[in-house]
Amino acid sequence: MSTYRADPKDGVAWITGGSTGIGRSVARLLAKQGYTVAVTVRPNDPLDTLIAETEGMVGKVLAFPSDVTDQAGMAAAVAAIEAEAGPIVLAIFNAGAYLPVTGDNLRMEAFRQSFDVNVFGVMNGLVPVTTRMRNRGRGHIVFMGSISAYFGWPTTAAYGATKAAVNIIAEALKFDFDKMNIRSQVMNPGFIDTPLTEKSSFSMPAMMPVEKAAERICLAIRKGGFEVTFPRRLTWVMKLLFLLPRPLREKALRLSTRWKAEPLVYARRSTFE
Ligand SMILES: NC(=O)c1ccc[n+]([C@@H]2O[C@H](COP(=O)([O-])OP(=O)(O)OC[C@H]3O[C@@H](n4cnc5c(N)ncnc54)[C@H](OP(=O)(O)O)[C@@H]3O)[C@@H](O)[C@H]2O)c1
Repeated sequence: MSTYRADPKDGVAWITGGSTGIGRSVARLLAKQGYTVAVTVRPNDPLDTLIAETEGMVGKVLAFPSDVTDQAGMAAAVAAIEAEAGPIVLAIFNAGAYLPVTGDNLRMEAFRQSFDVNVFGVMNGLVPVTTRMRNRGRGHIVFMGSISAYFGWPTTAAYGATKAAVNIIAEALKFDFDKMNIRSQVMNPGFIDTPLTEKSSFSMPAMMPVEKAAERICLAIRKGGFEVTFPRRLTWVMKLLFLLPRPLREKALRLSTRWKAEPLVYARRSTFE
């Protein structure tokens, strides 16, 4: 028997971090597919425009304010979603933060905040929702990783480390989730045009519009493969770079990011200055 794959007729889709970027576009597409979409946003993020945009679609968007770093708040959000809208059959852990870090400007806060949002923020939702999915005997989980999980490159000491952690969490839990009839997937996109990539200062090849990325993610959810990575022309290069001996990879990364030429530009743009 193949592992469960979410279907709008079975229950609710839940996505974290739907105020902007990928989360917002995916929420809109899922509503178009007929899902009731529960969107977790931080308490001060109004979703009125997204709710208005999705009016008239087969499905609908409902807002559930909660900061992903609040463990009790996330458990309460899961309970509130299920009480108000029905069982969560699809949970997408999308909320994320990219805090650029450079070695000449290290700040504990950048690491703490990155792990709080990108790793513990996932676990705060994963634990309560998979407990409920286990009891029901089915569910579908999507983790949002990144190609920065594959190896370190300039500015990603904190962000890349969190996304590598998310990939390991997803891979390790898959062994058990498969047995629990919970499908798990990890999305490792390249560069997507969102407020997050606006914080990056090096050239980002093969940048993809957010609507196209959301389409790829929704298609991948329907297909159900474990690791989903796009756009292929970039992510295959990344996978090849991963296979290179480390000194060769470092050389290629220095050349492609022009890191050696302009180190101070990146340092000046650090969020924590
Ligand atoms: N853009 C890319 O190139 C790219 C590539 C690979 C992977 N990703 C991943 O894709 C996901 C979405 O990123 P994006 O590009 O769409 O960025 P984005 O537009 O900045 O969206 C990030 C979302 O996460 C929310 N968020 C951040 N901290 C939160 C918190 N503590 N509690 C609740 N929500 C919080 C943000 O809400 P606020 O508005 O309140 O901050 C926002 O809705 C992230 O996990 C990111 O790492 C992005």
